Amino acid sequence: MPESLRIVLEFLVYGFVLLLAALSLLILVFYIQDRLQTKHAVRHNFPVIGRLRYLFESFGEFFRQYFIALDREEMPFNRAQRSWVYRAAKNLDNTAAFGSTVDLRIPGTIYFTNSLYPLLDAETSVAPVTIGPLAAQPYTTTSFFHISAMSYGAISVPAIKALANGARQANIWLNTGEGGLTEYHLAANCDLVFQIGTAKFGVRDSQGQLSEKRLRKVASHASVKMIEIKLSQGAKPGKGGILPGEKVTEEIAAIRGIEIGQSAISPNRFSEISSSDELLDFIERVRTISGRPTGIKVCRGQLSRARTTIHREF
Ligand SMILES: Cc1cc2nc3c(=O)[nH]c(=O)nc-3n(C[C@H](O)[C@H](O)[C@H](O)COP(=O)(O)O)c2cc1C
Repeated sequence: MPESLRIVLEFLVYGFVLLLAALSLLILVFYIQDRLQTKHAVRHNFPVIGRLRYLFESFGEFFRQYFIALDREEMPFNRAQRSWVYRAAKNLDNTAAFGSTVDLRIPGTIYFTNSLYPLLDAETSVAPVTIGPLAAQPYTTTSFFHISAMSYGAISVPAIKALANGARQANIWLNTGEGGLTEYHLAANCDLVFQIGTAKFGVRDSQGQLSEKRLRKVASHASVKMIEIKLSQGAKPGKGGILPGEKVTEEIAAIRGIEIGQSAISPNRFSEISSSDELLDFIERVRTISGRPTGIKVCRGQLSRARTTIHREF
């Protein structure tokens, strides 16, 4: 055997023995670790091999996602929805031809069908809807879709500016969310719905009660067309909320009417509203002070579809 081959073979054998020794040492360390620890029963009872369970568990999600889950199976957003969003974000064609993979038999599904004699655009007209005819300044709209509440703090300044500009261009309203009214909402000159959450950010006094003076000021902006009292929201069923102190900057504190650097707690209910009668009284109070149509936001859940539906009444 040539000398060079012998050296290579020797090197490989020594390497293999070394690797085996290292592996055995590692297994021994794992064994001792698993036996001595008392936190995980599986690892204690099945040392070393028990570790595979956690490994497979962590892999499971990826295997299911790519190999097992069907296109419309995952929640809250399935693969079909995600790929639609990716395509739309890249400005690629996002229309799907040849039917839908969504089960259209589910009651309440909205779908568009062909018509033998569809109306021409010129023949259609949208009947204007007037909201809050009893308010001092009712609001009339011809738009059906609007922008739901997302507060400043939850979304950034560029996001608010983009949504507000989009709302103006589309002639729809933008809901401020419970984080108060900001200059960024007002700058775009779009129609706004001012939302009052349980903490009454932006319209509260130092005790957390409704400040009529502040509400009047909010309503004095021509862009603020309506007021929404938020009783509940899908993401926080039965809960209030907390805005951690580190997020309460000088600007946020001024907008929301709270102390700089102090965590702001949103109670799980309006202190003024513990019954339907009190709710109606509060709506009437806000509507009278603001002169604007005033409604409520509640979130209704539907177990069978595991989706939430928002229902508004003005
Ligand atoms: C970033 C973010 C902030 C939100 N902030 C509020 C809020 O301040 N007030 C509110 O009532 N809902 C808030 N929501 C909930 C939305 O208004 C809406 O109800 C929810 O996203 C469900 O509608 P969707 O299924 O169209 O997303 C927020 C949602 C998001 C994503």
